[in-house]
Amino acid sequence: MAVLSSARCSALSNWYADAARTLPWRDTSDPYRIWISEIMLQQTQVKTVLPRYRTWFERFPTIASLAAAHLDDVLKAWEGLGYYRRARFIHQAAACIESKHGGVFPQQFDAMLALPGIGRSTAGAISSFCFATNTPVLDGNVKRVLKRWYAMPEATDKTLWRQAQQNIEAFDNPATCNQAMMELGATVCTAKKAACASCPVAEHCTSAFQAESTTKNSKTVRIRDVHWQVHLHLDMQKGIWLNQRPDSGIWAGLWTPPITELNETPDKTPCHIHVLSHRRLHLYCDVAHNPPSANGQWVADISKLALPTGIHRLFAKTGVRIKT
Ligand code: ADE
Repeated sequence: MAVLSSARCSALSNWYADAARTLPWRDTSDPYRIWISEIMLQQTQVKTVLPRYRTWFERFPTIASLAAAHLDDVLKAWEGLGYYRRARFIHQAAACIESKHGGVFPQQFDAMLALPGIGRSTAGAISSFCFATNTPVLDGNVKRVLKRWYAMPEATDKTLWRQAQQNIEAFDNPATCNQAMMELGATVCTAKKAACASCPVAEHCTSAFQAESTTKNSKTVRIRDVHWQVHLHLDMQKGIWLNQRPDSGIWAGLWTPPITELNETPDKTPCHIHVLSHRRLHLYCDVAHNPPSANGQWVADISKLALPTGIHRLFAKTGVRIKT
């Protein structure tokens, strides 16, 4: 397996020192802040995360305040970031840190890994950024960079972990190694296009100027169409009738008007189509005139509850205005 030479290490770290974006989680070594940034950044773009990252710490300044919060408040703080399972895991992990680690984020890699929602790559990031350990990150961006750099497009995760481990050990600063690899994947060696002409390590890269776009080769996710009738019960004084979705499945734990799944595609245009990772939700709506029979409650102020973005969009399109 190829080992990073010192020329490659310095090319990468010099580039990172010059070109890295200024991001708030790069200014701290507080494990709580790093942990939240890493979870928010999974499957979510930096520009979406930035404002939410700031408001998160206004709402939950400490792990203790997070652990003590009601899950509904945590989901509300996550509203719009998607993949809400991440917020549930964060809440469970905060409780674990309180009960098992005296409220202090654990320093041991294995203890981090044992927390809900923290996998090897996230633990690698937290541990290297906060405690300077040689623990690599291997997220989607880093995998792509390594595959191109060493021209091993079919490499398994096992091989990539081994390569990433060797690379970080050859670097003098593990945090810079991880950050630089992620930054390279996010800004230069992207899935759409490898910008080899501006790559700091092009001269050391086995597939420089030949790397294919990975989008067309990447696994195609089959998106299933789902048709949902959304029943709007509205009342001038009481607001809107909402119920909380079950703990699992689409929009788990979030608040929506009552929904009926339609077995057939209706012969009408949906009010809104909302696309999730595996589902295309066709939302039809009706204003119900009968009293609500489904479980739920009247909500006059929806700003306290977490509603899916798809429902906010539906409200906007249909002109439903509830105090927020
Ligand atoms: N994606 C995951 N972790 C990141 C980080 N620390 N900086 C930028 N993007 C990231």
